[in-house]
Amino acid sequence: MNAPTMQGLNLSAPAYVKNARLLAWVADMAALCKPDSIVWCDGSQEEYDRLCAQLVEAGTFKKLNPAKRPGSFLAWSDPSDVARVEDRTYICSAKKEDAGPTNNWMDPAQMRATLQPLFDGCMKGRTMYVVPFSMGPLGSHIAHIGVELTDSAYVAVNQRLMTRMGKAVYDVLGVDGEFVPCMHTVGAPLAEGEKDQTSWPCNPKTKYIVHYPETREIWSYGSGYGGNALLGKKCLALRIASTMGRDQGWLAEHMLILGVTNPQGKKYHVAAAFPSACGKTNFSMLVPPAGFDGWKVTTIGDDIAWIKPHADGKMYAINPEAGYFGVAPGTNTLTNPNCMASLDKDVIFTNVALTDDGDVWWEGMEKDQGKLPAHLIDWQGKDWTPEIAKQTGAKAAHPNARFTVAATNNPALDPQWDDANGVAIDAFIFGGRRSTTVPLVTEARTWMEGVYMAATMGSETTAAAFGAQGVVRRDPFAMLPFCGYNMSDYFQHWLDMEHKLEESGHTLPKIFCVNWFRKGEDGKFVWPGYGDNMRVLKWMLDRIEGQAAGQETMFGVAPQYGEINWTGLDFSAEQFATVTSIDKAAWTEELKLHADHFEQLAYHLPKELLDTKAALEQRLAAL
Ligand code: GTP
Ligand code: SPV
Ligand code: MN
Repeated sequence: MNAPTMQGLNLSAPAYVKNARLLAWVADMAALCKPDSIVWCDGSQEEYDRLCAQLVEAGTFKKLNPAKRPGSFLAWSDPSDVARVEDRTYICSAKKEDAGPTNNWMDPAQMRATLQPLFDGCMKGRTMYVVPFSMGPLGSHIAHIGVELTDSAYVAVNQRLMTRMGKAVYDVLGVDGEFVPCMHTVGAPLAEGEKDQTSWPCNPKTKYIVHYPETREIWSYGSGYGGNALLGKKCLALRIASTMGRDQGWLAEHMLILGVTNPQGKKYHVAAAFPSACGKTNFSMLVPPAGFDGWKVTTIGDDIAWIKPHADGKMYAINPEAGYFGVAPGTNTLTNPNCMASLDKDVIFTNVALTDDGDVWWEGMEKDQGKLPAHLIDWQGKDWTPEIAKQTGAKAAHPNARFTVAATNNPALDPQWDDANGVAIDAFIFGGRRSTTVPLVTEARTWMEGVYMAATMGSETTAAAFGAQGVVRRDPFAMLPFCGYNMSDYFQHWLDMEHKLEESGHTLPKIFCVNWFRKGEDGKFVWPGYGDNMRVLKWMLDRIEGQAAGQETMFGVAPQYGEINWTGLDFSAEQFATVTSIDKAAWTEELKLHADHFEQLAYHLPKELLDTKAALEQRLAAL
């Protein structure tokens, strides 16, 4: 090992840390960041409890009432640090074209020169936590290891819930195993003797979320929130992993994975890509409604899927994560009872409101409780009453308020969720948030058409990312903020999968396009959504089994009204028409937007996408 101390800093690692590259890297980073001390996280309960107590002491955590919410804590972030910062997120590949037109890019050498002075001394007055984690079941051939160095204890405890974190990772890593180095700092060094003035240190002025895809490194500066700081999630499991997948012939996707079992006991697996805050967690925990006796939906993952084609010709998916970092507002026992049950204990809540009896509250809970609470402390520490909310429109919880919870809290957890080989995928679903234009569900006639649907997907922006809300933007494959390389090359990678799978002689997963979010003239959602999405899922399975004829539309095969199981739901043929109709004028405009989108992505754009567009235009003209 290197020098065990450096300027009074004890560098000695626990004896079980034997990876030479890791030891050298930690020493180098300690020399750069100059923390007061280093803590090697072992992932134990004792360590978790100790760090949580420390966070309570520092004012970052409030311990919730153990009678109401045992083992749970509430954190309120700095109001400037509440979501992913897409405009501060960079893909620093050697060549600009390899980052592509949808990513921010800077020359790697220039970025390193920019970050060097920022990281120099960035952890002064703080502890550097060494957080080893496995994305995917420990030792799985599909899994990858990351090590995050962070000066945030909040990040360390979140990573214990979100990933397989701790000592066992070092056994897998061994002496010379590979890992993705993930550097993180809140970017708020303390001067000698200085104490934090805030319970959420971050850098309100300077933020950088940086990826070097060629050397597989992540450097994150200035934010302590979500995907900016929990570097295993979007940074490693999507941006870095998507480039690994391109090079190695697999897929890293922004997809939930669910199991669905019919009353006869036959089980299917579905992976679905919806943009941020567009219903993945909800769909992955779906409770089948009335009329679906004997049906069961189980969760494998709620946000990310790593998918590999196998020699048997099927595509196998794992969830690289081990917990959920989910949107709180809108969640209640009517919309997502499994999620609410998951949140009974051992949860970290961020930016929700605090009740007078030491529990949590967010918008949407009034539907369970029958009324609004008389008084709360909102996510910014201010008094909240229904009257104040009415006058000022103030939200008790931030719209991107989240919970962090281990997957094992989920009563609907799939028995195979931790299976090292993953589950075989029967169908892919793509869906955006669109008030108009896009129908409830259609099935792509071919793999090519499915890739087209995914590549041109539009969605209204949400509070999950900093910036304007509710504007339609193209979000291809729900990967716009998460693809670590040129988007058109990514489309090509998806197209290549077809031939790869066909060579091994298997039926490809079917591809469906959905939209739960069409609105009526009154501005309200027409489709009931949530558990009722089971009705659409069942139709998809019927299509897989050849038991629903469907009907041809310009944009794929749609269900006939009579092919959906309507038991227990009052939904007329007219209402069905409202959510499934294809409006010629709207689609003429929509295809113009596809054209603009393809123009932006012209470099390396697969020609087949333009051919597919031309075919759709012909179908549209014939309407
Ligand atoms: P990320 O964690 O950001 O990737 O989000 P997600 O895709 O997991 O979204 P999530 O399931 O947390 O849902 C986000 C918001 O959409 C919540 O407020 C939900 O209540 C709402 N939502 C989810 N499913 C439906 C649906 O079927 N219909 C309607 N109208 N709203 C939904
Ligand atoms: C998303 O934005 O898609 C999320 C939340 O899942 S975060 O982890 O912040 O990226
Ligand atoms: Mn997500």
